[in-house]
Amino acid sequence: MSTPPLASGPQGPDRLEPLLDTVLDALRTGARARGGPLPPGGPDAVTARVRDAVGDVLPERGDPDALRTLVHAFTEGAADPAHPLCTAHLHCPPLAVAAAADLAATALNPSLDSWDQAPAASALETLVTRALAREAGHADALVTTGGTESNHLALLLAREEHGRCLRLVHGTNAHHSLPRAAWLLGLPRPVTVPAPDGTLDPGALDAILTRLPGPHLVAATAGTTDTGGIDPLPEIAARCTAHGARLHIDAAYGGPLLFSDRHRHRLTGLDAAHTITLDLHKLGWQPVPAGLLTVRDADDLTALRHHADYLNAHDDTEAGLPDLLGRSLRTTRRADVLKLAVTLKTLGRTGLGALVDQVCAHARAFAALVHDDPRFDLHRRPVISTVLFRPAGADDTAVATLRRHLLTTGRAVLGRARADGRLWLKATLLNPATHPDDLAGLLHLVHQAHTEGPR
Ligand SMILES: Cc1ncc(COP(=O)(O)O)c(C=O)c1O
Repeated sequence: MSTPPLASGPQGPDRLEPLLDTVLDALRTGARARGGPLPPGGPDAVTARVRDAVGDVLPERGDPDALRTLVHAFTEGAADPAHPLCTAHLHCPPLAVAAAADLAATALNPSLDSWDQAPAASALETLVTRALAREAGHADALVTTGGTESNHLALLLAREEHGRCLRLVHGTNAHHSLPRAAWLLGLPRPVTVPAPDGTLDPGALDAILTRLPGPHLVAATAGTTDTGGIDPLPEIAARCTAHGARLHIDAAYGGPLLFSDRHRHRLTGLDAAHTITLDLHKLGWQPVPAGLLTVRDADDLTALRHHADYLNAHDDTEAGLPDLLGRSLRTTRRADVLKLAVTLKTLGRTGLGALVDQVCAHARAFAALVHDDPRFDLHRRPVISTVLFRPAGADDTAVATLRRHLLTTGRAVLGRARADGRLWLKATLLNPATHPDDLAGLLHLVHQAHTEGPR
């Protein structure tokens, strides 16, 4: 049997080309077969179709059609975030240019744990992380797999600075990965601050910081998962300074507002944080993963320094080979920086800012439709691009049933969120190509499903 073609090397591009034609064709046929945002039939039907398509996962003899068959089945059974009715989560449609750039990273397979595996990739990562950190008013940044890893690293850096008695203080609106990281790092049980209107109450924070002995790490959120709310960052930062508390801001969702002239002011106070979580696979239109953790003080990162002779021998480092091991908790690490660099340079700040403005405008337009329609209740005016709504008069069970009905029929993908003691449907509008008719169509569909669907 001849050696299967390799993706890199002098022949790599020629070998890849026909395979990419197959992939692109299967993406087309799979999307046509699906016909909507989500495959119909729910989990059992999808599992059965995938099982049929795959057949024997590890056959005795290989199948030359596996690429076409599996990419078709994968696409047919996908939730497509580029479909205008796929709006449940902070699950963005990736930009084509970012996906194309990511192919080069996949083909060359640099690994950012040592310079000899990633010479240009490591130089590019240094440039991009510094540039993105500067956008947030910080000194440096690490590339992560997303908000969860960034939050975890933020707590680790804080623990290394303040010791194992460090107590996390976070709003009830904070992402679950924050208290989970405290558990993982063996920190004392976190203290929660009320967030009565969906954002952290700075007065209640002050009372907790006064009453509870430190050291404290306060975690604020710029763009909450449920509503897109932004905590009052300047007030929180002032309280942290007054009490000597360290501040982390989870801007996994809201961070890219920095690119928008129109919306940047909402992040005033962000640069006061010691660390900031950013996540460009949410409002940054990147393929997963594309997380970052920025640090105000680059010296904070010395806590991550680590030595493994085969990767960063002292004499190699002294001779000038960059030491990459302290840039992550991971060892082997893919070059996620390439798609980021290509996106930033292709679109520029103006281009990215325009996309941010577009999705925020879609959310305002959708909220206005809901507000003006007596058949629906609107939770609140959107802050970023998340809209909570529900059919007027429906109880929580009806809202949950309606959401599952839309999912299992494959007609629309809406999220769910609890706010003000009630369950709401959540539309997270991250698709800049959404048309006003799509928004009206979504509302119509929800009404139809509510009046006609199963109870
Ligand atoms: C505010 C916030 N922080 C952190 C995360 C976790 O990000 P990831 O899923 O990339 O780990 C999310 C995910 O939705 C989020 O909304």
